[in-house]
Amino acid sequence: MQLEELPIPDSIKAVLSKAGYDLLYPPQEDAIKAGVLEGKNLVLASPTASGKTLVAELAALKSVLEKDGKVLYLTPLRALASEKYEDFQKYATVEKAPGRRVRVAVTSGDYDSSDNYLANYDIIISTNEKADSLLRHRSPWIADIAVVVADEIHIITEAERGPTLEVVLTRLLKINPRIQVIALSATIKNAKELGEWLEAVPITTEWRPVPLREGVYYDGQIQFKDGSSRIIPKMNSNPIFETGLEVVKDGGQVLIFTETRRQAVETGKKAGAILRRALPRPDRRGLENIAQRILSTGERTRLGEVLAEQILNGVAFHHAGLPSAHRKIVEESFKTGRLKILSATPTLAAGVNLPARTVIISSYERYEAGYGRYPISVLEYKQFCGRAGRPRYDKFGEAVLIARTEDEQDYLFKNYVLADPERIWSKLGAEKVLRPHVLATVATKFATTEDGLERFFAQTFYAFQYDPKMIRGKLGNILSFLVREQMVDLGQELKATKFGRRVSELYIDPVSAVILRDGLYTRARHVTDVSLLHLISRTPDISPKLYPRRGEDEMLDLFAKEHRDEFMCEVPEYYGDTNGITYEEFLAEIKCARVLYEWINETSEDGILEVHRVEPGDILRIVDTAKWLLHATYRLAELFGHRDLLNQLYELQIRCTKGVKSELVPLVELEGVGRIRARSLFNAGFKNLEELRRASITDLMNVPTIGPSVAKKIKEQVGGLIKAEEWEALKSKTAESTEQSLLTDYRESSNV
Ligand SMILES: Nc1ncnc2c1ncn2[C@@H]1O[C@H](COP(=O)(O)OP(=O)(O)OP(=O)(O)O)[C@@H](O)[C@H]1O
Ligand SMILES: [Mg+2]
Repeated sequence: MQLEELPIPDSIKAVLSKAGYDLLYPPQEDAIKAGVLEGKNLVLASPTASGKTLVAELAALKSVLEKDGKVLYLTPLRALASEKYEDFQKYATVEKAPGRRVRVAVTSGDYDSSDNYLANYDIIISTNEKADSLLRHRSPWIADIAVVVADEIHIITEAERGPTLEVVLTRLLKINPRIQVIALSATIKNAKELGEWLEAVPITTEWRPVPLREGVYYDGQIQFKDGSSRIIPKMNSNPIFETGLEVVKDGGQVLIFTETRRQAVETGKKAGAILRRALPRPDRRGLENIAQRILSTGERTRLGEVLAEQILNGVAFHHAGLPSAHRKIVEESFKTGRLKILSATPTLAAGVNLPARTVIISSYERYEAGYGRYPISVLEYKQFCGRAGRPRYDKFGEAVLIARTEDEQDYLFKNYVLADPERIWSKLGAEKVLRPHVLATVATKFATTEDGLERFFAQTFYAFQYDPKMIRGKLGNILSFLVREQMVDLGQELKATKFGRRVSELYIDPVSAVILRDGLYTRARHVTDVSLLHLISRTPDISPKLYPRRGEDEMLDLFAKEHRDEFMCEVPEYYGDTNGITYEEFLAEIKCARVLYEWINETSEDGILEVHRVEPGDILRIVDTAKWLLHATYRLAELFGHRDLLNQLYELQIRCTKGVKSELVPLVELEGVGRIRARSLFNAGFKNLEELRRASITDLMNVPTIGPSVAKKIKEQVGGLIKAEEWEALKSKTAESTEQSLLTDYRESSNV
């Protein structure tokens, strides 16, 4: 079907034809025939890269242009939200009315805000969590939403993130039962069931823009599902690299999926060494430029240096611990073909559009603390495969699993290559998962009686798949907890207390809220940074949990003893447990607190990684959750009248955001100045904004880590006079520094 024939406004057709679209892909045609442009609900379960986004785009634009109906586009990840935002930018020139263009916004992060400005936008792209928080803040514009797109809806089956999406959809349907739901999914077994829940037409396709060959490597040979096979010459290295090298030699690109972030970095390093030895590097200059961009973007860290070093070999790694600016550069450089091998954690498989000719799945197992090792689902395996094959560049894509024995090869064939993806199952049933949603349902007045609460949860996918009765008992338990902890009043009506409403808006687990509230009342003899950092480290919301490694107990125990008087809770006995907390669990809390404590006292990231043996990226994540929990603690301290703690909590939030001691707080408020540059400035005698105002650009450039562009940026922010000849000197310096060879720059930094 031609795009030209579609019943959509001409302005949209013009945008699409300019973007190079003319024919619809078969799944898109199916969706149109199913009535998605006439407002029908749809579940489209179709392989990766089969063009699901366009279906949502067309329905969205039609709603905005023809009915002035707002669109909410939900994605499970921040990275995906920004990718979709860019996809929608092509419509930003389309006029909705004369002189009024279509407005697209993206929102994520900051869960404690109702973002009223979004009322002015037509298409709002949001993460599921952010949408949940907006619903809790009762953002008034939500009632104007006419179309909701649930991208990657199969994540409903994930214990951590699934229930949020499920509840968001249930709420949106409750607010406006006539809302059009467009659910996009990877291929799953029960799209029909999902369709019944959403009263949507289910469409399942196996169509792929580039044919896929799935296979298993064993002993120098890849055996494909279609019966063909390929010899991989052995080189005394790992089959992953031997296979990768063959593909690169043949002009293709390779994506290697690893289990952990650490492995992603290591795999990249080894792949780079092999590639460097085996192949000439025709594109040295291009690679140096990319590496230079990595080093000059954001704060300089060891991880960034390792990445830059790998890029020089035409290889990179990609994981959630990389700053998003670096991830973007890596993604771009892989898309342009400059990078040949990318080694990535599974997050990359979840929807970011970054295909390669060959996907190598280095491990089909995962590890979870307290659970052990377990094999990945077929659904996850299929997501990896989905990244294989670049449209327009590759005639086919390949996905390869690695077997070490013949038995394993059989196992992998049977359980992955030939297997069907699983059904997806709601994970809303666990009390721990349900608890915050029950509070939010009462706090936002979605339910004002116990019956109402039951009726609301009877609308969820969980109740649809299992039995509404199964949820009833759980609701009762949760309600008694919320009443006991004074978050909900059980009068004639169910009503959230001020505390309950605040907790729901702060987007924290009610159990965390109780810990914070009680901690604030218990008080330590002196409330120090350690007191507060430990307090937030006790909550179930702190993530990731950092468990002590072997041999670390003693060090943590010592730290706990040193700070004995500072904890805002009872410290458990060494043996046995106190209030259900064992000493081991206590040490895990101490570990989180200690990592945060070192972070705000300017221990280097590499130093923290080394001493505590955490994964790269863990620091970033724990700092992120800590910021949010400190904000919540601040708000609760305000609510319960602990005014004497407010300044300390506020400063701690900034210090945690930036990773600095108190004395650097004024400096890090400047854009472009992070913990490392602020420390250099401070040590060079620039201790506050006034001193920076008086400094000349040359003074600033004499400070280590401050280059011409940063010096200029600082001056622009603090003001003060800059002489004309200084500007001139600065301009030539800037030009010179980009000319500088990366290699010398790199060598200098690695000698430190
Ligand atoms: N009709 C079309 N003609 C040409 N290219 C298309 C067409 N439809 C989609 N594409 C391109 O196909 C690519 C993949 O599309 P899209 O991101 O929508 O995949 P998807 O089905 O959402 O996959 P995923 O499971 O990865 O989310 C995009 O680069 C898009 O521009
Ligand atoms: Mg998609």
